[in-house]
Amino acid sequence: MLDAEIISVSPEMDKVKKLILKIAKSNSTVLIRGESGTGKELIARAIHKNSLRSNEVFQAVNCAAINENLLESELFGHEKGSFTGAVSDKKGLFEIADGGTLFLDEIGELDIALQAKILRALQEKQIRRVGGVRELNVDVRVVTATNRDLLHMVGEKRFREDLYYRLNVLSIELPALRERRTDIPVLIDYFVAKHTKGTNHKITFAPDARKLLDEYAYPGNVRQLESALERSILLCEDDRVTLDDLPPEMTQSGGGTTASAAASGDLFALPIDGVNFEDVERSLIMQAMERTDNNITKSAKLLGLTFRTLQYRLEKFGFKKDEGTEEGEDS
Ligand SMILES: Nc1ncnc2c1ncn2[C@@H]1O[C@H](COP(=O)(O)OP(=O)(O)OP(=O)(O)O)[C@@H](O)[C@H]1O
Ligand SMILES: [Mg+2]
Repeated sequence: MLDAEIISVSPEMDKVKKLILKIAKSNSTVLIRGESGTGKELIARAIHKNSLRSNEVFQAVNCAAINENLLESELFGHEKGSFTGAVSDKKGLFEIADGGTLFLDEIGELDIALQAKILRALQEKQIRRVGGVRELNVDVRVVTATNRDLLHMVGEKRFREDLYYRLNVLSIELPALRERRTDIPVLIDYFVAKHTKGTNHKITFAPDARKLLDEYAYPGNVRQLESALERSILLCEDDRVTLDDLPPEMTQSGGGTTASAAASGDLFALPIDGVNFEDVERSLIMQAMERTDNNITKSAKLLGLTFRTLQYRLEKFGFKKDEGTEEGEDS
């Protein structure tokens, strides 16, 4: 059994959990990929917790949050006097995590020079402090995470290919929350319990609020769901969460794709409070006409309409016939 507080019931996450169990005991590098807020750090901790290193250090560092110059000394440490401000020797995170697991978050943000140094640390299992001459042996399992397409970055020469393959020995693809919708209700229960713990609040949901929570597409994934719940639990009256208590980005029109649109691959998301269909139609037609310099034939093609249909609609919207140009259907 996996020892971790990963709340899920979806088959997609079952697969992830099985994979964690399989790979946790090895010392290989793991690359966790997933959108922001999908739980990458949670997975990294689960790997550590279920590994043979579970009694040792788990050290996390966000490569995007630390300035490039400081990051090197943060990771590898420095010797006294190696740069202004290096007033004493300092251990780096590789040394601190010796025997344990080092989680390098947002690995795609590492600059090229540091990428080379990390590669060396992984290959030689040795590091050198900034300003130091000694090679220090380190036994660290490295787990990394990114929401970037590293292979694409390799193609653009922004990420070292050799490091990519080194990091990608084992990889875990974390599905977005909208791709595992069955997890939403259990996560809602879990976060409601978490954020009412120690109080005697019994939270209920107005049906439309609950429907939105269940059906929203969550571009910010689990983190967004948790913060929406935390907020609404604080704001709601009489322990009843209504639409008004949910964050504006979830309730405002056009502010969020609903899940049904995202899940079914619909081109356009119907805003929660609906739309004026004629306005949408007019807007699309005017955009097409603008793009084609008022050419009706080309606009009709862009819109997937016949020439006649578009002409009819243009007239309906008060567009005068002589404002548009026509040309042969084949051109
Ligand atoms: N399956 C889950 N069960 C319980 N909590 C979860 C789950 N997935 C994510 N969380 C919680 O959601 C929050 C976001 O997760 P985490 O920080 O691991 O995401 P992330 O992928 O690292 O995000 P980012 O890319 O923004 O750094 C955390 O508070 C985490 O505990
Ligand atoms: Mg993270």
